[in-house]
Amino acid sequence: MPDIESIIQQMTLEEKAALCTGEGPWTTTPIPRLGVPRLVVSDGPHGVRHPVDVNQIGSLSHPATCFPTASSLACTWNVELLHGMGEALAAECNALGVGVLLGPGNNMKRTPLCGRNFEYFSEDPYLGGELAASLIVGLQSRGAGASLKHFALNNQEYQRFSINVEVGERAMREIYLTGFEKAVKQGKPWTVMCAYNKLHGTYCSEHYRLLVEILKEEWGFEGFVVSDWGAVHDRVASLQGGLDLEMPGPKPSRVQAVIQAVQGGSLDEAVLDEAVRNILKIVYKAAETPKGEAFDQQAHHALARKIAAEGMVLLKNDGVLPLREGLRRIAVIGHAAKTPHYQGGGSSHINPTMVAIPFDELQQQAGDAELLYAEGYPSDDAFCQDLIDEAVNIAKDTDVALLYIALPTYKESEGYDRTDLDLTAQQIALIKAVGDVQPNTVVILNNGSAVVMGEWIDHVNAVLEAWMMGQAGGGAITDVLFGKVNPSGKLAETFPVKLPDTPAYINYPGENGEVLYGEGLFIGYRYYEAKHIPVQFPFGYGGSYTTFAYSNAAVSAGEFKDTDGLTVSVDVTNTGAVAGKEVVQVYVHDHKSTLVRPHKELKGFVKVELQPGETKTVTIPLDFRAFAYWHPGYGQWIAEEGEFDILIGASSADIRCKQTVTLHSTQELPSLLNRESTIRDWMEDPRGKVVFGPMFRQIAEGMGQAMGGGETDGSEATGIDIMTMVMDMTVMSILHFQDAMLPATPEQIVDGLLQQVKQLA
Ligand code: BGC
Repeated sequence: MPDIESIIQQMTLEEKAALCTGEGPWTTTPIPRLGVPRLVVSDGPHGVRHPVDVNQIGSLSHPATCFPTASSLACTWNVELLHGMGEALAAECNALGVGVLLGPGNNMKRTPLCGRNFEYFSEDPYLGGELAASLIVGLQSRGAGASLKHFALNNQEYQRFSINVEVGERAMREIYLTGFEKAVKQGKPWTVMCAYNKLHGTYCSEHYRLLVEILKEEWGFEGFVVSDWGAVHDRVASLQGGLDLEMPGPKPSRVQAVIQAVQGGSLDEAVLDEAVRNILKIVYKAAETPKGEAFDQQAHHALARKIAAEGMVLLKNDGVLPLREGLRRIAVIGHAAKTPHYQGGGSSHINPTMVAIPFDELQQQAGDAELLYAEGYPSDDAFCQDLIDEAVNIAKDTDVALLYIALPTYKESEGYDRTDLDLTAQQIALIKAVGDVQPNTVVILNNGSAVVMGEWIDHVNAVLEAWMMGQAGGGAITDVLFGKVNPSGKLAETFPVKLPDTPAYINYPGENGEVLYGEGLFIGYRYYEAKHIPVQFPFGYGGSYTTFAYSNAAVSAGEFKDTDGLTVSVDVTNTGAVAGKEVVQVYVHDHKSTLVRPHKELKGFVKVELQPGETKTVTIPLDFRAFAYWHPGYGQWIAEEGEFDILIGASSADIRCKQTVTLHSTQELPSLLNRESTIRDWMEDPRGKVVFGPMFRQIAEGMGQAMGGGETDGSEATGIDIMTMVMDMTVMSILHFQDAMLPATPEQIVDGLLQQVKQLA
């Protein structure tokens, strides 16, 4: 690594400004005079989309492995597997001369309608954060950088370039930033990509609080922040806001604006130097990795198949799966059996090295069985009864019907949202018609986010959610259908019964350029649990060809200090006849908290592989953050003294064991009392109670008199609960009712009390 400070000293102002804007759509600006190389970046996230012509934004890309997209990856709940995928992606980056891969994306799935959900992991920040971090660590361990995106609050495609997100501070911290925070702290990505949208009225590309105060200062991010492509509106403001590199380039006018701002004194050159420093560190880091060594296409295809199989979720199985040996005739129905839908539209679109066709893969594994194919539905929105009739005729006389149902490409993509959660009318009619004549009907789904199933699920025997499964998914489906792989995927997002049930329903997509996250902390399972809304399939749910029993749940201590955390352990036994993997999930429920909290939240998980009859003890650590929430008053994470339930389960709705523990807080928190604090605030604050307690009774009695407590004529005022009424009044306002009798003004009295509280601290 050369001496970066000395390079910065030798750079002219023009060179500095030029470095902070791309040279082209996928490269940074080199400075040959000083030996500064160019950095090549490519999309991302589930494969390397490296264009044949790096000077063109939409050029054909080199063949690369198309791995499953993030919705599928998340359902593996397998951090080692994602680490391995990261390593493979790095090998492909290195082979193609790419220094930074533009991914992973870790925005939360606020609504299943978001067109880009297929590129995101989960509705849960803990799960998303763990998985993103592992992928990043794997990628970077082999010398290619990650670009964690889209930071932040980019949770819909509708008006993504301009929408202003209004979100409460707690939801922002606990839901929308936590996944990024974990990925930044644990994964240490070389770069972070800012989002297009605005947050609280300011574009994310110039959001000082987000990019500088939170990302760089609080979380210790040391790489560079790159703009999403075209997200910069004011280059000078974005530099001041913490955005280091603008992409894509070239943009001479932006370079000029920076030069003029420095010359004119409106931009401190030190700010520009800092951006230059951040970019140079990564440019040189990437240059250290040798490039050009070919990657093993077959090995990566095999890895993509393994991951795809592990991400598949067995949603329903009334016994037809795994398919038994010796089937004679199998109906293979659905356009997607021969034309697989394995990735999404937009910037993540990969030119695959090869593609496994589900029908062909089936043929290879189905032994002597005869496969009978029917298209079932067209690739567009048309309704063709003939195709349904044909499929029904075939399905009738077979042992089993496999329905390959892919959501049409036009239904979900980067750049726009879905308008509903349904399959097409033709697909629904097809599933019902085939299911009604063939009791052994299996639906295999390819889609990027939840779909609703109420209309058709009772008509079929089994449903396998195969997601956008990557180029090798066709083989992975067959592996799962025949039991070569025992399904172990669990949902990383809730499947609702219907669209109006979903958390953001009445606050989506916003209006007048603004979207209000009115549901606050309550997205995904946090919402359905809080509102007691039944779901089709809960978060964390997924079937298997075996069964697992949980026993001997234990915690390392019944009482513990917040700073020490806790370890949870449980024995898991494979009680079935075949080997399998189970995802053990740990949720935390707070018995009582000052501010509202979701009923329970995922704070740990582990995936364990077990042979039939085998038992393993799994342990899951829970740290301070597992018990903490963001308190806007203190502006920090706090874990409150008291009891918590540790819930160990096979899904969010299938809790198998519970342990209750007591947390002792070691946090010294300042008093939040002020002139506007209510009597309740004063009485609930330990120091406030000491100071204000003696006055409290006196005041309450005085109020009782004033509000008619002394009347005997049966007027309406009597009989009301004076105490409750009083508790929610501010001390200041109550004193104003009695100010004639007071020795000083209410302001002076309250300020005096506040002074005493301070002295107690
Ligand atoms: C997308 C990014 C992508 C970039 C470059 C943008 O439109 O939002 O995710 O990395 O384009 O293709």
